[in-house]
Amino acid sequence: MSLALVAPLPHVPCQDFRNAMAGLAAAVNIITSDGPHGRVGFTATAVCSVTDDPPTLLVCLNRSASVHSVLTANAELCVNTLAGDQQGLSNLFGGKTPMAERFAAGHWRPGQNGAPLLEGAAAGFECRISRTVDVGTHDVLFCEVLALKRDDDASALIYFDRNYYGLSTYPTPL
Ligand SMILES: Cc1cc2nc3c(=O)[nH]c(=O)nc-3n(C[C@H](O)[C@H](O)[C@H](O)COP(=O)(O)O)c2cc1C
Repeated sequence: MSLALVAPLPHVPCQDFRNAMAGLAAAVNIITSDGPHGRVGFTATAVCSVTDDPPTLLVCLNRSASVHSVLTANAELCVNTLAGDQQGLSNLFGGKTPMAERFAAGHWRPGQNGAPLLEGAAAGFECRISRTVDVGTHDVLFCEVLALKRDDDASALIYFDRNYYGLSTYPTPL
């Protein structure tokens, strides 16, 4: 038997990966936190469900983001899933805007864990960070969901091909 030596495949260029990911339509969320280390919030599309037992989702956070140290130190957060008319908030929380200016827009109230809950959002998941795994430039935050808010009538804000789309009416399921 001959053992062929197979060279490991080089990974694809980062920009090619980013361009391909632009084709992955995603819900838009504002991740908030408030606690002894301060109040912060940022926009994230890298959010998904992990398991329903215990109810857990994950959030990928760039370690170079200004919010990183405060959010991980507080260890409590809220995932506010935006409704179709909340694109302005996504841009505010996704840029280099000072934190006080971000929270001056929108209506916020403290959730049970202190993290700001957004009025009019499609959903709010109040969480405690249960585990963190670092991969490349990002931390993957595993977040146990301790309380929920869901607006059954809300529309959805979708980020696709570097543009926003509001699903303002429910389309016919395929
Ligand atoms: C639509 C959109 C989606 C984003 N998704 C993520 C994400 O999933 N994870 C992340 O770390 N940053 C994401 N960002 C970037 C952060 O929101 C941004 O870096 C954050 O506001 C931190 O910026 P700062 O360092 O100025 O505070 C996204 C930005 C936008 C506009």
